[in-house]
Amino acid sequence: MHRKHWIFGMAIFSTLIFVLLCLNYAESQSDQVKRGKYLVDAVGACGQCHTPRQGAEMDMSMYLAGHPANAPYPKYEMSMMQRGIFMLTAPTLAAFSLPFGTTFAANLTPDKETGLGEWTEKMFVDTMRTGHHQGDTNNRKLLPPMPIKNAYANMNDEDLKAMWAYLQTIKPVKNEVRPALNRMGRPF
Ligand code: HEC
Repeated sequence: MHRKHWIFGMAIFSTLIFVLLCLNYAESQSDQVKRGKYLVDAVGACGQCHTPRQGAEMDMSMYLAGHPANAPYPKYEMSMMQRGIFMLTAPTLAAFSLPFGTTFAANLTPDKETGLGEWTEKMFVDTMRTGHHQGDTNNRKLLPPMPIKNAYANMNDEDLKAMWAYLQTIKPVKNEVRPALNRMGRPF
């Protein structure tokens, strides 16, 4: 009889501990997501380029969804150099044309086909660290103006992982961003 009580007590006790651990884990997960939001929105200002504008305001229905697939974008001409022009931007402020070609801010939402839905945390961290497309050093280097070198590349693992955790929680938006174009207007 005593033994039974003892087993029962232990079962209750372990369940309690388990529930507390789960709550603690959930809390730390949401702390990580909160920190990620803070880093993405307030510190990294990722939306400055990755959320397209409609007029003067960011189009929040396209939050972090990149340059809209069919939106117009400018093309740099070498003759502009003499006039002191080095970079042109699309009205969305999400596409940029420079002497080497044109870049389009990527879709950072978790959409599976057009966003980061199929990416892993490691791919994201390595991209921000190395500045190579999808974090693979065999791939091309990402082109300006995203501030990777001397900026995002110096963020610590914990912060980069928090940004990733947050990006996983935002609304997926289907938007096929075009690939970067070289000077001839063709994909790299
Ligand atoms: C000044 C503009 C700008 C800012 C700010 C910016 N980005 Fe980007 N980002 C770009 C452009 C442009 C590209 C596409 C570059 C290319 O194709 O070479 C890009 C591409 C990416 C990619 C895709 C890389 C790949 O492998 O294809 C990721 C991921 C990314 N940015 C994350 C972020 C995050 C996270 C932040 C904020 C911490 C951020 N960016 C801030 C302009 C910006």
